[in-house]
Amino acid sequence: MCGIVGYVGGEDCASFLIAGLKRLEYRGYDSAGVALVGPQGLGVLRSRGKLVNLETLVVKERPQGALGIGHTRWATHGRPSDENAHPHSYGGVAVVHNGIIENHLELKARLRDAGHAFTSETDTEIFAHLIADEVAKGLDLLAATKAALREVRGTYALAVVSAADPETLVAAKNASPLVVGYGQGENYLASDVPAILERTRDVVFLEEGEVVRLRRSGIEIFDARGQAVTRKPRRIDWTPVMAEKGGHKHFMHKEIHEQARALVDTIRGRASLEKGDVTLDGVSLDAEAAKALTRATIVACGTSYHAGVVGKQYIETLAKLPVEIDLASEFRYRDPLVLPNTLCVAISQSGETADTLAAMREAKGKGARTLAVCNVVGSAITREADDVLYTHAGPEIGVASTKAFTTQLAAMLLLAVKLGRLRGTLTSEAAREVLQALNAVPGLVDQALEREGAALEAARAYSSAKDVLFLGRGLQAPVALEGALKLKEISYIHAEGYAAGEMKHGPIALIDEDVPVVVIATRDPKQGGQDTYEKMLGNMEEVRARGGRIIAVVNDGDTHASAIADKVLPVPACSALVAPIVNVIPLQLFSYHVADHRGTDVDQPRNLAKSVTVE
Ligand code: G6P
Repeated sequence: MCGIVGYVGGEDCASFLIAGLKRLEYRGYDSAGVALVGPQGLGVLRSRGKLVNLETLVVKERPQGALGIGHTRWATHGRPSDENAHPHSYGGVAVVHNGIIENHLELKARLRDAGHAFTSETDTEIFAHLIADEVAKGLDLLAATKAALREVRGTYALAVVSAADPETLVAAKNASPLVVGYGQGENYLASDVPAILERTRDVVFLEEGEVVRLRRSGIEIFDARGQAVTRKPRRIDWTPVMAEKGGHKHFMHKEIHEQARALVDTIRGRASLEKGDVTLDGVSLDAEAAKALTRATIVACGTSYHAGVVGKQYIETLAKLPVEIDLASEFRYRDPLVLPNTLCVAISQSGETADTLAAMREAKGKGARTLAVCNVVGSAITREADDVLYTHAGPEIGVASTKAFTTQLAAMLLLAVKLGRLRGTLTSEAAREVLQALNAVPGLVDQALEREGAALEAARAYSSAKDVLFLGRGLQAPVALEGALKLKEISYIHAEGYAAGEMKHGPIALIDEDVPVVVIATRDPKQGGQDTYEKMLGNMEEVRARGGRIIAVVNDGDTHASAIADKVLPVPACSALVAPIVNVIPLQLFSYHVADHRGTDVDQPRNLAKSVTVE
């Protein structure tokens, strides 16, 4: 999510750190900072906003040191500010961190009881305190970092320096990427290759659970059990542009492949299997207020609207609360009826969509309590909402939304479980079952991504289509809408998404051998006691009878739908409620490969904007 760069060598490294951070600017950030260890000990400089602010500070202060770490922050815990910018330091130790510490509230409370005072709202600052305590006990930086990591649950790419050890940089990786680079008499660290590409092309990508010690003389890597590992550096021949995309051809492709990690970051620390409940730190709605709710109204635009359609079903199923959903751009024009005790849920990746903001204001003005489901910390919608549930997808650069969508679905499911528990409509056992299914999703998403070859093959076969229909039923109907939106956004092929039952009420007139039909024909026996699979088979037969070509999203091992379809996009089977998160993956990949095959500008499709800030 955020950017990390580190250096240990023989020269003052402030300008190297700034240059490295500049190479990560494309990712988006809200603040930046550096920490150097030099003759005067540890020096930390941080600044909110553009990198040029930090650069100006560095030019003015001239920090010295041949050991240093730098960071560009994209806020997850705590608003963008100087105090919340990294590095965070305590007791001569400075840290930068990407990821989320799941047990941060618990650790912060324990440290406070032991007399520690915190200067930021971040979870990261905890690392500085934990490691400094271990250094004070006499441990070296490597041992101190390992000891601190034993206390922490969560995801991290972490880099640490200490005034007590001016020749050592220690780093650790768990679920967030980290790479070390090999130089002559100097070594480097980064979250992403572009930051260090100007100095070295010999790198090792760290594996899960690894801890690494960098010195001028060399790099030592230790695995999760503490055993030293030797790995041959890999030579990177990426161009700088390729490096920004992590070796992927487009940001959209990179972001599609980041979804398992984004989902882990969204779910972790919130879903508790022990308690059979959900903790949402930015949501203060209590049982009394939740029980008093008469209705929820979801407002959103574009892809976020599709997440809302799924979210409506989640809330109605689990929290037994009637939910209305509106396109945010339409909400105000019908003088909406906002009953007392309405919860307005505004879903927005950017938090800046003008219509969504205006719809939320309208609901608030009419007395609703407002809750934002949002990806960008401190954005306009989050500033005005009463409660905020962040999606933690990380910056999304491709205009067509992918990881923001799947994390919105996960967030809506967490919210539905929370409301269900608060309202007493969901027992802890039932909640546990849902959360177990949700916890399995990142792994299932990775499995769906492994089947990319099938999407590529289908894309090649149908990339010259002029119109494509997408059909799904129940929870898969909004997935069909999202599949169609993805295809039209980036490939410019006309595509329509329909609830499959509506096919006979119009779209069937379009079907012939030139109109491929994408159907979502996975099994979902638990949803409302109704298995929509058989009905989808019926739709498929109707398409086939009219000469239509069928691309079917099916579960692994499927036989019936596969026998009718011309191409299949297999996904692993999963519990009905979470199936939309898994089933949308092949549709994202299909759209991506169609667009790539047609040679369109995948990341910046014509006429579209990532964030629509005008009504
Ligand atoms: C634009 C983007 C879409 C997005 C929609 C809503 O149209 O291109 O990807 O779904 O806005 O944006 P939001 O930031 O509110 O989710």
